[in-house]
Amino acid sequence: MAQLWGGRFTKETDKLVYNFNASISFDQKFYEQDIRGSKAHVAMLARQGILTAEEKDQIEAGLDGILADVRSGKLEITSEYEDIHSFVEANLIDRIGDAGKKLHTGRSRNDQVALDMKLYVRDEIDETDELVKKLLEALQKIMEENVHTYMPGFTHLQKAQPVTLAHHVGAYFEMFVRDRSRLADIRKRMNTCPLGAGALAGTTYPLDREYTAQLLGFDGPTRNSMDSVSDRDYVIELLSAFSTIMMHMSRFCEEIIMWNSNEYRFVEIDDAYSTGSSIMPQKKNPDIAELVRGKTGRVYGALTSILTTMKGIPLAYNKDMQEDKELTFDAIDTVKGCLALFTGMISTMQFNKQNMEASAKNGFTNATDAADYLVNHGVPFRDAHGIVGRLVLTCIDKGISLDELPLEEYKAISPVFENDIYEAISMKTCVEKRMTIGAPGPDVMEKVIAENKKYLEENIALKKSKEDIPVTGMAVLQQQYTLAEAIEEWIASLKKEINS
Ligand code: ARG
Repeated sequence: MAQLWGGRFTKETDKLVYNFNASISFDQKFYEQDIRGSKAHVAMLARQGILTAEEKDQIEAGLDGILADVRSGKLEITSEYEDIHSFVEANLIDRIGDAGKKLHTGRSRNDQVALDMKLYVRDEIDETDELVKKLLEALQKIMEENVHTYMPGFTHLQKAQPVTLAHHVGAYFEMFVRDRSRLADIRKRMNTCPLGAGALAGTTYPLDREYTAQLLGFDGPTRNSMDSVSDRDYVIELLSAFSTIMMHMSRFCEEIIMWNSNEYRFVEIDDAYSTGSSIMPQKKNPDIAELVRGKTGRVYGALTSILTTMKGIPLAYNKDMQEDKELTFDAIDTVKGCLALFTGMISTMQFNKQNMEASAKNGFTNATDAADYLVNHGVPFRDAHGIVGRLVLTCIDKGISLDELPLEEYKAISPVFENDIYEAISMKTCVEKRMTIGAPGPDVMEKVIAENKKYLEENIALKKSKEDIPVTGMAVLQQQYTLAEAIEEWIASLKKEINS
């Protein structure tokens, strides 16, 4: 049990208490951020004359060594330490001796952990943004290829009016664009540096908080030291934005599951993204879509959990706040994994265009257009609605579509109908005439697609770092902390199967 405190204690901590209190098993996840923060702190201390240049160099070299060794696996983070902060400090002292003991000058673990968490969340916002952008690119590709792919649009899950696949997917494009702007908003709002807030009341050392903020890429220091150590708003905002991302993916998954069903057959999920049944040989199940839908609940749970944890905490720091980590890490891993897999799934999915179009053709999706035909010939809309309602009834009786109903039958109900009704209610007309802004008409859709293209070119991802982040589901999964190992294992076995 290696602790940073103990001076005022006469007894050892009970082992169970130690374990209950310790956070190293999960806060080791931000060792990089912890070291980054310490290096900035030390650079500032030296600049302010609180540490000598030599001490600063020693500490920096020690911290760099720890970072390199943890990264390479040479140095293992073990439960011997209470938390990642103790681990780094104890290792530093082991390596460089007395200078290491000065690292924590003018700092508390309260502002330190607030900083680490912010740095971690900020990094993860950037990575998530990159993944949402990749998803948008996949959606854009589907849109470009399907401006003329007709399909039924639904309300109440009843066929309503014909749309195109580009239009339907375009709805999701809008959602994920909003998700990106939410992430950008959070990043902007949270980008102030808590370092230097101390335990809660700042410090008497002449710290230059502007300088550390600048070194760490913040817009400036936080303005109130008590708020600095007790603020987890950005975690709540992140989990809220994440919940919305999951909700969007989940809705799409729900549709994909239906579209993939034997009844719809609108899509065929690629073999690599489907699973079989242990008993029913004919089965090909949309497990990935179902899991993304299912994991949505888990991310909502994280949001509910942190909101509940925070609601009764008096100022300033309280240990309750340690509970922010596991659920946030889990949510981050879940969202990133789901985004990567979802993108892979929709990029490899086949659309059965003929089935989509055939489905749009039966189900009277052109009934509104038949009514509009009458309106264009001077019939008031309400009367036209009634007339077409009767036509639909006739068709249902005969088991045919409006396109198949003979002109005499039309005329029997309203003499206004002429031969051009068939042209007016053809799928092509129904879709192509819808040219209002936001409608599925191909001309408007092409404009939207051009705007999307511009958006994707101009709105480069938040992630500034040069190193490319993994695009494939597998690569992201490998970085995972808690995302069910089952998925990982399953994908690995699938890959093996595909390769063999
Ligand atoms: N592990 C703690 C956390 O995650 C670090 C801060 C500890 N501060 C303290 N006063 N015990 O919140």
